[in-house]
Amino acid sequence: MKYPKQLLYTKFERFWHWSQMLLVLLLTLTGFEIHSSFSFFGFERAVRLHSAAAWSFMGLAVVSIFWMLVTHQYKNFIPTKYKLKEQVKYYTSGIFSGMPHPTHKSMYNKLNPLQRIVYAGLLILIFPVQIVTGIAYMYYHYPQNPLDAGGLTLAAGTHTFGAFLVVAFVIVHMYMTTTGYSVSSNIKAMISGFEKEIGQEETKSETQSE
Ligand code: HEM
Repeated sequence: MKYPKQLLYTKFERFWHWSQMLLVLLLTLTGFEIHSSFSFFGFERAVRLHSAAAWSFMGLAVVSIFWMLVTHQYKNFIPTKYKLKEQVKYYTSGIFSGMPHPTHKSMYNKLNPLQRIVYAGLLILIFPVQIVTGIAYMYYHYPQNPLDAGGLTLAAGTHTFGAFLVVAFVIVHMYMTTTGYSVSSNIKAMISGFEKEIGQEETKSETQSE
């Protein structure tokens, strides 16, 4: 059966998503090498790469915040209780018995209520904490910088804790990408921008509100 397709992710959004993914991957690999979890790039190169990725990550964050505000796409990340219980029930039991998704996607409703909470936590809490503690780390830690090392322990501990939360997010996020109407449909949508409107016919009207 041929289903209509809807545009979910614009070109900029897909660029933002994939470049952020690459930067977070590089930050995580180099960060944990700096943490001495393993050796791959070599310590000094890991430090240089981590700093370069961190500045690119902050640049991307500034551009994407501007884009979110101009296009009103930030609305996708505002937490809501609407259908939250249904969504929890879906992930904890319904998904294993073929229950239909309780919510459906549209341009201004891309994330289900659980995703909204998790993504808002990542973008408004964890990433900013990584940025603030990362900058503090740069200024406390590097000998050429002016501050003394008094606050390093707190900044480093918080930064490492944040890094573990980022890793936890990535693992859950990768599992979630497989829970669309097919195993690969969510990833395909983030590549092409479009997704088939399977199962949305009957509930389409509920997703039109922003
Ligand atoms: C997804 C985001 C990030 C992750 C997962 C991450 C991860 C890590 C980890 C695990 C460490 C080692 C901490 C330790 O052992 O004490 C580290 C170190 C560091 N991070 Fe990050 N980080 C991220 C973002 C950032 C950002 C945005 C900045 C800068 C603004 C930054 C700056 C630093 C600095 C300066 C160090 C210390 C490097 C050194 O020892 O020379 N990080 N990071």
